[in-house]
Amino acid sequence: MKFPTSLLSLTRFLLLLLLPFFSSAWLDVSVATNTQPQYHDLLHCLCSQEDAICNLIYTAQNSTAYASVLQFSIRNPRFSNNNASSSSSRTKPIAIVTPTTIPQVQSTVLCSRKHGLHLRVRSGGHDFEGASYASLSSPFLLLDLVNLRNVTVDVPSKSAWAQSGAVLAEVYHSIASASRTLAFPAGLCPTVGLGGHISGGGYGTTLRKFGMAADNIRDALLVDADGRVLDRAAMGEGVFWAIRGGGGNTYGIVVSWKLKLVRVPLRLSAFTVSRTASSDAEMTKLVDRYQRVTDKLPDDLMILVMIGAVDQGNSTKQVMYLGGKERLLRVMNESFPELGLKEEDCKEMSWIESVLHFANYPSNSTYDVLLKSRTDSPISFAKLKAKSDYVGTPLPESALQGIWSRVHQVEAGAALLHLIPHGGMMSRISDSSTPYPYRAGTVYKIQYYVAWSGEQKEVEERHLGWIRKLHEFLTPFVSKNPRGAYANSRDLDLGMNDPTGETSYEQARVWGEQYFKHNFERLARVKAAIDPSNFFRNEQSVPPLSM
Ligand code: FDA
Repeated sequence: MKFPTSLLSLTRFLLLLLLPFFSSAWLDVSVATNTQPQYHDLLHCLCSQEDAICNLIYTAQNSTAYASVLQFSIRNPRFSNNNASSSSSRTKPIAIVTPTTIPQVQSTVLCSRKHGLHLRVRSGGHDFEGASYASLSSPFLLLDLVNLRNVTVDVPSKSAWAQSGAVLAEVYHSIASASRTLAFPAGLCPTVGLGGHISGGGYGTTLRKFGMAADNIRDALLVDADGRVLDRAAMGEGVFWAIRGGGGNTYGIVVSWKLKLVRVPLRLSAFTVSRTASSDAEMTKLVDRYQRVTDKLPDDLMILVMIGAVDQGNSTKQVMYLGGKERLLRVMNESFPELGLKEEDCKEMSWIESVLHFANYPSNSTYDVLLKSRTDSPISFAKLKAKSDYVGTPLPESALQGIWSRVHQVEAGAALLHLIPHGGMMSRISDSSTPYPYRAGTVYKIQYYVAWSGEQKEVEERHLGWIRKLHEFLTPFVSKNPRGAYANSRDLDLGMNDPTGETSYEQARVWGEQYFKHNFERLARVKAAIDPSNFFRNEQSVPPLSM
């Protein structure tokens, strides 16, 4: 990946961050030995079920398709290539099961539990630390929901049932096919899977108007550790609360979600404007103004800032306004004149066209391209490390200057900072309404990304070192006690469960309270009620707290 040196390069940089890796069919499969009796017993158990799933099981030994099935939904190539880096040494699944029915999911859970084999579930495979398909601990079976992606929209009730294996593009396509004025408030990246996304919160361009994806769920179907299928009434309000943002692979496998659809206008304004500052001081002025107004703008307006690594401070602002451009221009000129927004910057379109715009599809694309997003998408991936922070008080000038100087460092490579505004509806939802606690008082969230190519361990360490130092530098300026982090931006630097699965509640609080604040304790109690044996777990799943 080249270091961008101009505004044009910046735009290209954004696309490069998402380069396709489908071409790399070759895969390092550091599979745990599967000569263990538990492995054969497991296959026997699965194949002897009434609803036989023998044909949907892939192992490195018996299937040439194993590598391509595993690779298909790996969205951070850091955990797939045979390189010398530390990341590639994680354990891959001993087998992959791709159920086509819910009873097959139940059978997989029961067989896996019966034979003492750890289980992980994958929907879209966007976990930043690869937790859905690469483990730092025990051998495991991967339950891949790639075949469970049906979406049924009911316009009169403004709702949809969507299976977890659907990616956002498929959900958005189904909704747009049924209605041009209904939408679902979820993420910008079309290939993100519904299962992991809602399990960790899920924000997108209408966050300030409608809240997060997890705030807009009416019901769900969960397969628990006993293989039961539970709807909202059967699982109870505690579990229903926990699965909406309290972390994936923890309470069970959510196979389906009932989405609450929201009303959007036929035409809205959605566009991207780029600004190249002539100096760091000018950049500071622009971002300083942004952070003083962004959470106070009308709920209909969301300005997501992307700051790229260039020789002069550059930023791109993605603007989504649920209304026409005349009013938008009035609002912007009053609140944020420093941006210098002009009428020609503002583009009007439908909600589904805005989905295509923010996903970087060519402007003449029809929304049917969304159906090909898994294999033919403008969104693609480089090796990536992400971190997050929450800002409650605008960063002082010294902090902004410190960011610019670090972004200019060679070690930054292809680095990017996203500023995601809160306020609006986000500040009216209580901080314990779902596990996501960053509501009133949060001005914006920072997402830090560093991306790189290259196989050498030193290259990876250089970029990891850079993002860790930037995060450390910002410590005095961001949320504290605990310092906040976004559960969907998984960051194993914050702490990890013991590989044996025996992590104590006290140990897990270190990172758990960063993601969930005061909600962490309730999540641990819900976990104790629904999965006391900690069958569903990963490096950062919530451990059970009994009493
Ligand atoms: P994946 O399949 O890797 O699952 C993530 C976690 O959830 C894993 O622990 C997994 O085991 C668990 N899980 C998956 N399916 C489950 C199920 N059915 N039941 C229970 N647990 C399950 N976020 C955001 O809020 N807004 C955005 O715009 C974006 N954009 C974005 C772009 C790109 C390129 C990336 C890589 C990531 C994002 N994200 C994001 C973050 C994204 O929301 C987060 O990584 C999600 O957890 C991904 O969900 P997937 O199903 O794709 O991942």
